[in-house]
Amino acid sequence: MAGERILIVDDEKSMCQYLSIMLKKEGYNVKTVGNGKSAIEEVKKANYDAVMTDIKMKGVDGLEVLSAVKTHEPNLPVIIMTAYASQKTAIEALNNGAFHYMVKRAAKNDEIKMIVHNAIETRRVSNENVFFNKQREKKSSYKNIIGESEPMQKVFRRIDKVAATDSTILIRGESGTGKELVAKSIHHKSNRSNKAFVSINCGALPENLLESELFGHVKGSFTGAIRDKDGLFKVACGGTFFLDEVGETSPGIQVKLLRVLQEREIIPVGGTNPIKVNVRLIAATNANLEEAVRTRSFRPDLYYRLNVIPIEIPLLKNRSSDITLLVDHFLKMASEKIKRKKTISKESIDLLLNYEWPGNVRELENIIERAIVLQDGDTIMPYDLPDKIRFQSRRKGNFDLNREKVTLEELEKEYVISVLEETGWQKKKASEILGINASTLYRKIQRYGLNRNEEEVGVE
Ligand SMILES: Nc1ncnc2c1ncn2[C@@H]1O[C@H](COP(=O)(O)OP(=O)(O)OP(=O)(O)O)[C@@H](O)[C@H]1O
Ligand SMILES: [Mg+2]
Repeated sequence: MAGERILIVDDEKSMCQYLSIMLKKEGYNVKTVGNGKSAIEEVKKANYDAVMTDIKMKGVDGLEVLSAVKTHEPNLPVIIMTAYASQKTAIEALNNGAFHYMVKRAAKNDEIKMIVHNAIETRRVSNENVFFNKQREKKSSYKNIIGESEPMQKVFRRIDKVAATDSTILIRGESGTGKELVAKSIHHKSNRSNKAFVSINCGALPENLLESELFGHVKGSFTGAIRDKDGLFKVACGGTFFLDEVGETSPGIQVKLLRVLQEREIIPVGGTNPIKVNVRLIAATNANLEEAVRTRSFRPDLYYRLNVIPIEIPLLKNRSSDITLLVDHFLKMASEKIKRKKTISKESIDLLLNYEWPGNVRELENIIERAIVLQDGDTIMPYDLPDKIRFQSRRKGNFDLNREKVTLEELEKEYVISVLEETGWQKKKASEILGINASTLYRKIQRYGLNRNEEEVGVE
């Protein structure tokens, strides 16, 4: 999140406040207004990335706000909020181009955050991503993929082999392993590199929206289709099309994608004439497509068409030799950004090397960035890392919680040791983390007979 601007429109002040606090915490730049008229003025005068509006308001209501936004800036996503679910208004809102229709009190926080995230993502796709952005392509060149481990070398060799061809590629890998980075680097190294690289996340959009984003639509094909719109496939002509999360596509979209791969043509929504498209297709998935084919949620013919050349990106935990390189890389980037050199302690590196990395490289990148932002010194210490990383090695190693009986005292001793270790035996810091005062900590150290050499002793 990089401070994207969100406008919240609701005549219920508490709702405005509630959403505003939640979204600000996510890093968004939020503005709230209490009526539709001010909302329309705001949208005209400032650049927003998403609008969330209540539907029922005195004077100008949410549907009018929606229509004004769509006339002023068709790509600006509008999330309609309502107190009570009604299918009729939901359909009306969506037909008029609303990004999403949400029942206020029923939506959970995570759901709301996801909807907003997706709305902004869609806008990004529609706006900046469709234009070829040299700067960005440069940033995603091959050299920016860090990795010297054997599994990554294999990926690099594959990229080199396939880049110059027009073959369809299927990139597979868990979340955060670097699928998009690899897709961009293939484009960058191909002879399509001076044309567009267009990407779309198939999982982020509802089916009808995805269809019109991909293939375009003709004027009048549905309410709200006030003019013809080119689909992203057309925009990507001559370049590379990156279909992210392809496993999330509905059967309807799958048929249409098959057509692109077989006939190299598209038909816009509501249109009749096929349009030839010249794109190189790269798809990515973190789903098990073979299983999806088996359970019939993914078409086998599409699967075979996509899986011409597979590239498998390894889990970060299976290439731990890359972890140190990646940490260096992210530290360097962050240091450049804040114009101050930051380093990391050996103990912290050891903890990072021990961790399982369910979120792969993205998780590592976020953790380094977070540590740098939150800490004041120049060296990242273990206590700058999240708990899940600080406490994992000890949980896994020295201390067996599955033992039949573990006393409270043993637990306490173990915890005190781990906090002392992490803080490099800085007792003031350790007592802060433990939530006790320094003299109580001294007493505990004496009572358990702890000293620095005993760090690794743990519980007998
Ligand atoms: N080998 C790498 N070297 C440097 N940065 C990397 C590497 N792999 C991933 N990253 C960074 O990690 C983040 C996640 O990468 P990317 O978006 O390509 O992953 P993804 O597999 O597409 O994830 P998701 O499935 O969640 O969409 C990005 O910021 C990317 O720059
Ligand atoms: Mg991705």
